[in-house]
Amino acid sequence: MEPAAGAKAEETFQLADRVNRISVSPTMAVLQAAEQLKSKGVDVADFGPGEPDFPTPDHIKRAAIKALEENRTKYTPAPGIAPLRQAVCDWHAAQLGSSYQPAECIVSSGGKQVIFNAVCSLVNSGDEVVIAAPYWVSYPDIVKYAGGKPVIVETRAEDNFIMRAADIEKVLTPRTRMVIADSPSNPSGAVIPPEEFAKILALCQRKGVWLLSDECYSHFVYGDAKPFSIASVAGSKNRVIVVGSCSKTYAMTGWRVGYALAPQPLVAAMTKLQSQSTSNVTSIAQYAALEALRGPMDSVVAMLGEYTRRRERILAGVRAIPKVTCTAPQGAFYVFPNVSAHLNAQMPTDTAVAKQLLERESVAVVPGEAFGAPGYIRISYATSLERIEEGLRRLNRFFAS
Ligand SMILES: Cc1ncc(COP(=O)(O)O)c(C=O)c1O
Repeated sequence: MEPAAGAKAEETFQLADRVNRISVSPTMAVLQAAEQLKSKGVDVADFGPGEPDFPTPDHIKRAAIKALEENRTKYTPAPGIAPLRQAVCDWHAAQLGSSYQPAECIVSSGGKQVIFNAVCSLVNSGDEVVIAAPYWVSYPDIVKYAGGKPVIVETRAEDNFIMRAADIEKVLTPRTRMVIADSPSNPSGAVIPPEEFAKILALCQRKGVWLLSDECYSHFVYGDAKPFSIASVAGSKNRVIVVGSCSKTYAMTGWRVGYALAPQPLVAAMTKLQSQSTSNVTSIAQYAALEALRGPMDSVVAMLGEYTRRRERILAGVRAIPKVTCTAPQGAFYVFPNVSAHLNAQMPTDTAVAKQLLERESVAVVPGEAFGAPGYIRISYATSLERIEEGLRRLNRFFAS
């Protein structure tokens, strides 16, 4: 007997378990909703983006154009062109005090693919990966995709959302394979102080656990914080996987260039995986990244200056909203206010807050639930001071009503 049409369709679209284990990135969902409104001509105060609003610096764009004109448009080695891998090692050594060789470096399509490659190369079914909440949205899903189990460690607003070795130690089990440290953190802006980071490393080394250090926001730090890599600590390399990216540092999100620095056998495994999936990063993007890493850092300094001004304004503005509290982020370009005092029957969750903010005030923010932090919203200040002022006016009106 022929199956009913519905059943047939269901069978056709029966997806693999590994895909059913993950969900669409919630930050992408917000971006899409905001984009839809903008396309209808609505003036959106867009605090959603997780990317710099600055253009990619000219000298970097020119390097890509030159590569194109020189016909550097063919396959490259899967882990990246040799000079770029060398440049990553040199840059990381000069900026963050590590010492890696090109064989310990792989260039991938953004930090996201680096993390994907690393997790898929190390995590077996049922292995546990420790992640601090609030967390970057993709960590748990990448772990789940690999068949692993995300184990969430809560951090505290009163402790500036810092991931602590003592809290990690409480959740370690014989199945723990990896700890992911995100500093500066998206969404909280938390920066793990170097001495605490050293304790986390010592713990990982003692327990034979990998420490994946996501440094995508390394150069956007404020106040007393300085760019720091745990890979600068002597003897760290056997357990550390550094994840870096040109995306935020050089306003290059669309170019898709990220990298890992890790022990050579792991880099070889990640390269094997990449060679059977995406292969090399777009050739001309690699030449652009080469210029970014070898060229002047002026644009990074200028962006940091601008973020510093915006951070002060948005922090003061958000803190002035009645019943909203907000810790001072030490890095990245987000503030992460607690709006839980405004939740009520009509607006029971932060997701409802984000939805109503978009509907009623055309303000785009990302709900804290997406980051494992209910009661919070993420506001990106990768937008001009003028737009920040407009957004703050609307936020005030919204929370006053
Ligand atoms: C904490 C963190 N890590 C990694 C990434 C990945 O960025 P990309 O893949 O563009 O390098 C992001 C992007 O938002 C991020 O916020």
